Amino acid sequence: MPSIGEPPAGRDDLPPLDLLLPAPRRIDPDPREDELAALYADGPPARGSSTVRANMVASIDGAAWGPDRRSGSINDDADWRVFRVLRALADVVLVGAGTARAERYTTLGRPRGLEHLHEAPLELAVVTRTGLVPEHLTGAQRPPFVITGRTGARIVRERGLPEDRLLVTDGDTSDGGGSAGSEPDVDLAAGLAALAGRGLRRVLTEGGPSLLGDLLRADLVDELCVTTTPGIVGPGPGRIVAGAAPSGPSVGPPRGARLTHLLHSPHARPGAPAGTTLARWLLPIG
Ligand SMILES: NC(=O)c1ccc[n+]([C@@H]2O[C@H](COP(=O)([O-])OP(=O)(O)OC[C@H]3O[C@@H](n4cnc5c(N)ncnc54)[C@H](OP(=O)(O)O)[C@@H]3O)[C@@H](O)[C@H]2O)c1
Repeated sequence: MPSIGEPPAGRDDLPPLDLLLPAPRRIDPDPREDELAALYADGPPARGSSTVRANMVASIDGAAWGPDRRSGSINDDADWRVFRVLRALADVVLVGAGTARAERYTTLGRPRGLEHLHEAPLELAVVTRTGLVPEHLTGAQRPPFVITGRTGARIVRERGLPEDRLLVTDGDTSDGGGSAGSEPDVDLAAGLAALAGRGLRRVLTEGGPSLLGDLLRADLVDELCVTTTPGIVGPGPGRIVAGAAPSGPSVGPPRGARLTHLLHSPHARPGAPAGTTLARWLLPIG
């Protein structure tokens, strides 16, 4: 199974998906994926300069990664179908540096066969405090945008990142927010605004859990697409959101979300469990 950063090229053995909600119908595999793309095309109205869609996968028991510490060991072909379409519709994929490292991200391209859904090149943006972005990315011919603070900026410059790909934000740590780490926090809203200023307004975040936690804490997520694959990983892995509670050990009440559609995959490869569900949630409600 390819890593999360390397979606497979157009394949002809992907499973059908049953749309359960709002109105049941089957969405057969289609090299162009026009029907599936239409389901995901219209996002919520932009609240800021961009819309942020998160796409995450978890096992039934909530594991965000499998025994190899990568999500490729918990996803499946149904997830790949939607994963490719979401990449095809985005201007930019936003990931934390932990995911870029763990999932071995490389420079992104539009998923092959889906280029008609969006003609512009698919950009990658990596968020980091430390600046420890893999050098195969910082030194690539088309490197990612790197959203970071001043310390991180120094490190990614040393790693060969061109100045026009560097988005330095002034992080605010006064509320104690953000994930643990010795480097100052990065201002994610400013990072998104900087991407929007470059025309990258349709943001697809593929995590990981720490970045998603920080984006949710800052109320910057408009939409959450969650795939639940039919497996139980057991104790160990974290869930799709990580990080400390906003203040002390307490957590606030759950925030509402609205389900816009639910897909179900009735087929799996021989011997593999079937029953993957793929939900699209808009948040916050109201
Ligand atoms: N289930 C899924 O859908 C899914 C999706 C993606 C990843 N994963 C899995 O999740 C695991 C990685 O988890 P993770 O929580 O470490 O991933 P992550 O959020 O991608 O990485 C954490 C790192 O990203 C940077 N970062 C995140 N939020 C930041 C912020 N607000 N400001 C500045 N930098 C920020 C920091 O990088 P620096 O250390 O460089 O400062 C931080 O250490 C892997 O096992 C991966 O396979 C699962």
